[in-house]
Amino acid sequence: MSVPTLTPIPSMSEQRSTVRCASCGATLDDRTARATCPNCGGLLAVEHVAPKAKGAALRALFDERLGAASYRGSAADRSGVWRFRELVLPAARPEEIVSHPEGNTPLVAREAVASFAGLDALRLKHEGHNPSASFKDRGMTAALTQARRIGARAVACASTGNTSASLAAYAAQAGIPAFVLVPEGRVSTGKLAQTLAYGAHMIRLRGDFDDCLELAREASEQLGIYLVNSLNPFRVEGQKTIVLELLQQLGWESPDWIALPAGNLGNTAAFGKALREAHALGLIDRVPRLLAVQAAGAAPFAAGFSDDFATRRRVRAETAATAIRIGDPASWDRAVDAIRFTQGHVVAVSDAEIFAAKRVVDACGVGCEPASAASVAGVRTLVDRGIIGRDERVVSVLTGHLLKDPDAALAARVAGGLGSEEPLTRDEALGHLERVLSSSSSR
Ligand code: F0G
Repeated sequence: MSVPTLTPIPSMSEQRSTVRCASCGATLDDRTARATCPNCGGLLAVEHVAPKAKGAALRALFDERLGAASYRGSAADRSGVWRFRELVLPAARPEEIVSHPEGNTPLVAREAVASFAGLDALRLKHEGHNPSASFKDRGMTAALTQARRIGARAVACASTGNTSASLAAYAAQAGIPAFVLVPEGRVSTGKLAQTLAYGAHMIRLRGDFDDCLELAREASEQLGIYLVNSLNPFRVEGQKTIVLELLQQLGWESPDWIALPAGNLGNTAAFGKALREAHALGLIDRVPRLLAVQAAGAAPFAAGFSDDFATRRRVRAETAATAIRIGDPASWDRAVDAIRFTQGHVVAVSDAEIFAAKRVVDACGVGCEPASAASVAGVRTLVDRGIIGRDERVVSVLTGHLLKDPDAALAARVAGGLGSEEPLTRDEALGHLERVLSSSSSR
């Protein structure tokens, strides 16, 4: 399979980045095939040479690419990830980039959701509008680009569904064989279908996500398969662009809070790194606070927050929000740094609160998967507790699409009387229509 070649990007620098271990400080070349430190197994982080332009000039460069994207910009400019390439992977050559394109997701406001959360206004950054229907595509375009740069023989990940579909899509485009490990019986049929349709090899493991990740790490060590879970530092670089893009959409005016669902903590880590860099480069002059929201049955990070992360916690995870059903988050240290740097907050919400938020997000025609609704439920909880003021400016990130978990949406709506439970005859259907119309006009 051939890889599409992007048009040359004159401003793309040949400047190499450094990959550094956050635990032991070892440094690696930016063409490393390692997803974790070869010395100590610690998490790696990518550091770029600072772009020449800073502050207003850098904002202008990103804005110009956005403006040019629709008609004369390069393929990289059309991507909501590679538009920010100086902060993603500046040394990637145009022909190495594996891009759908992705990103460019909408920032929407719906009064019903704001009033549910107890706020005057609330914006929703909808990452379900990415090509494989979740935010994972932003990290995956960077990880598969890196896989091409190092000549990976195969790529692998453990997944609760979204990562597997995203990996399968980008591996197909790159022409690299892909293996995904998913926990048995816990992944939405839609995501399994998507993953297989894109041509990835799928292994359903007896165990949970944490077991899958442990096996994926072991298999990648033993078989030399490139691991692209969110502990992979290049995934983090791509995921940073959720924050960069939403700041750009707000005219580079920081909101007061950015809320997101938190499971394996890759995204929390990426958001913290994005804000640290955006602030250091003068893209923004004030750092928004991060709110990481966990499901109460899978909340080791929220428990850690309550004692200032004195110890690293692990739990056996249980929640109907399958995407964040994770008990031993891999990016713990990086996420702690993100919460501390942004003076952020971590909160746990019950499944009932998640589904209440989801019903409101769905009913206003926006819709999201259960885990994503945690970012709205968490805001409501903090407004209730007086930690977020009702006039503060908040962005909740909806990480995935409503169709990830259609059964959850269907069950809630049929139970609420919106759908007929059984198929009806023609006459019964007419009677049903009349009843629904007269009850809604009498309201
Ligand atoms: N929201 C959605 C829709 C997700 O799919 C995930 C993670 C998260 C939030 C949590 O993000 O792990 O970076 O804290 N899904 C992974 C997967 C685990 O395999 O698709 P995180």
